[in-house]
Amino acid sequence: MEETITYPQARTCPYRPPLGYTELTEQGPLHRVELYDGKLGWVVTRYAEARALLGDPRLSSDRTDPDFPLISSRGAAVRSQPPAFIGMDEPEHGHYRRMTIPEFTAKQISALRPRIEEIAVQAAENLRAAGSPADLVTNYALPIPSLVISEVLGVPYSDHEFFEDASRRLMRAGNADEAVAPRTELLEYLDSLVDAAIQHPKPGLISRLANGELARGEIPRETLIGIAMLLLVAGHETTASMITLGTVTLLEHPDQLAALRADPTAVPGAVEELLRYNSVADTAGIRVATEDIDIAGRHIRAGEGVLIPNGPANFDPAMFPEPEEFDVSRGSRRHNAFGYGVHQCLGQNLARLELQIALPLLFERFPTLRLAAPATELRPARADTVQGLGELVVTW
Ligand code: HEM
Repeated sequence: MEETITYPQARTCPYRPPLGYTELTEQGPLHRVELYDGKLGWVVTRYAEARALLGDPRLSSDRTDPDFPLISSRGAAVRSQPPAFIGMDEPEHGHYRRMTIPEFTAKQISALRPRIEEIAVQAAENLRAAGSPADLVTNYALPIPSLVISEVLGVPYSDHEFFEDASRRLMRAGNADEAVAPRTELLEYLDSLVDAAIQHPKPGLISRLANGELARGEIPRETLIGIAMLLLVAGHETTASMITLGTVTLLEHPDQLAALRADPTAVPGAVEELLRYNSVADTAGIRVATEDIDIAGRHIRAGEGVLIPNGPANFDPAMFPEPEEFDVSRGSRRHNAFGYGVHQCLGQNLARLELQIALPLLFERFPTLRLAAPATELRPARADTVQGLGELVVTW
């Protein structure tokens, strides 16, 4: 019988995917995997096959399917999560995703630029006021995306300590039981916001849907709340991780940081290279086959789990020559960090804009920024969750 590998593998360096995947990518595109619960499945480690499979409608994202693979005991929590379109297939997925589009069009997102700049400037002032040394996560990386997404949704930012903490406990829960309390707290909170929005309509996605689609009976209340929770959690945690790990990556590559500072037009390209290199949502691509699929000489059977991490695809030398090189001029926009296919990240334009504003502003305001401790002492996050750091102490 073919040897199986374990998945997901842990990072040794917090800002790049696990080194163990390099050899797997060299060996071939698909590998047999044994998951934590003993079930067998597949891991896809090359870019071409990752994209082919992420675009294949024979792979399902339906988390209510008993065969949907779980990558850890914590993963079992997804089964009892409220319905949100990240865990649905067509046509249901598109039906609900389309309801959120008005807030996320390219035009709508670029109109947010002045407000995001204002938010980032304020965060930089708060960081300075905290005094060197200070934690970059709580003073800068987290408040920016958190304030932005709360305004997009119409969630009172005055509640940010509550929802940031609950989101973090949900993402970092060690098992399904630990996820119950933060999930319940967030759901009850969002439920109360829907009630408040019905009584007093206000700007933001939650009120728009509550007084529109919900009032017209086009969306069940629990689905509206599930979507609000997906956007609130996905909307701040991932981008905050990118600001934190992006800062570490740039500080660890001073030549690239200097290139970026010398040429502001290099910023969008540098953000794409950081997204590729950091691959923070590495384990997001989780699917189950609904039919048999033949690909790259392998046979995936209906009912088998297929894991499509974005890190190995983003480090596939066939797509990104010398992938270990962090090169802000590489032209990396075709990375898989936002996934691919119908579930490709809804918030990608927003995340890009936030990163394009927050990262250069930080280095402009704090030209002598340094890590307080060597990067080798930073502890990577658990393998099965969004990568990032609980805190990052910096000096200037
Ligand atoms: C740098 C930051 C981000 C990264 C790396 C990231 C990554 C991803 C990835 C890999 C997926 C695909 C999941 C899959 O294939 O099943 C995804 C989906 C999604 N992301 Fe993001 N994301 C980021 C920021 C955001 C933001 C800011 C928002 C919200 C405002 C957001 C909302 C979503 C939603 C709603 C989905 C589900 C889309 C669907 O199923 O149609 N993300 N994200």
